[in-house]
Amino acid sequence: MNLSRRKWLLRSAFYGIPAAGFGYGSGIEKQWLDVTRLEVPLSPEHAALAGLKIAVMGDFHHDDFGDPRLIRRAVETINAEGIDLVFLVGDYISDDPAAIEPLCEELQNLRPRLGTFGVWGNHDRWHASHVLEQVLTNAGVRVLSNLGQEFPDFCVVGMDSHWGGVPRLKETFHNLPPGKPILLAWHEPDTFDFHTDPRLALQMSGHTHGGQICAPVVGPLLLPEYGRKYPYGLYRKDTAHLFVTRGIGTLTIPARFLCAPEVAILSLKG
Ligand SMILES: [Fe+2]
Repeated sequence: MNLSRRKWLLRSAFYGIPAAGFGYGSGIEKQWLDVTRLEVPLSPEHAALAGLKIAVMGDFHHDDFGDPRLIRRAVETINAEGIDLVFLVGDYISDDPAAIEPLCEELQNLRPRLGTFGVWGNHDRWHASHVLEQVLTNAGVRVLSNLGQEFPDFCVVGMDSHWGGVPRLKETFHNLPPGKPILLAWHEPDTFDFHTDPRLALQMSGHTHGGQICAPVVGPLLLPEYGRKYPYGLYRKDTAHLFVTRGIGTLTIPARFLCAPEVAILSLKG
């Protein structure tokens, strides 16, 4: 092979492989919707939660290349599953609160049996606007920020964003009845290490996007602060579980690679 042909091949590989990867990540994988089904084995003291079916969705970043068709498919998927509770784990927007309107045009069609609950992400808090809560509430989403809601056999709790807000973990848990297991939504997953309360059965988080761009074998190339210890999936510590979703949207670049958008369906088992 002569020198100029070798140079041409090297140059083609240098520019062509990343370009093809970006084309695939933005044109194909970003439009996929993975439905992740997981069973969460409960500890005996949390048996009151057995049988619940929960959908987890988050990190919409709807002003950053959001696609209403993808959200619509996610909502239809959740409704077809016969879900009890939906948790939206924050970052509805990146920086433009106006994007909450078109997002909620889709989210308002969620039909879980017991309710849809949302928490704030760091981006929602950095660009806080009363519009966000108002539009989410009108769409049927109860926003829990350092707040709990009691059900007959369990409690649902949402914490404010650790990075962008002012979470009050001790006070919030202190105000909940003793003896009832807790389902918690908290945007940043690494906050899982803050807990010692034995009532906590399951924390649901997002924030990491699963890395958004992953490399074969290596996994996520970049992870955000408060999302480095628990980047994706199901974890257990003592009697509590943590589930971290990859989320559904994209941030900064309109592409996902080896890390497709996700709706998670969690079945709680006694
Ligand atoms: Fe986030």
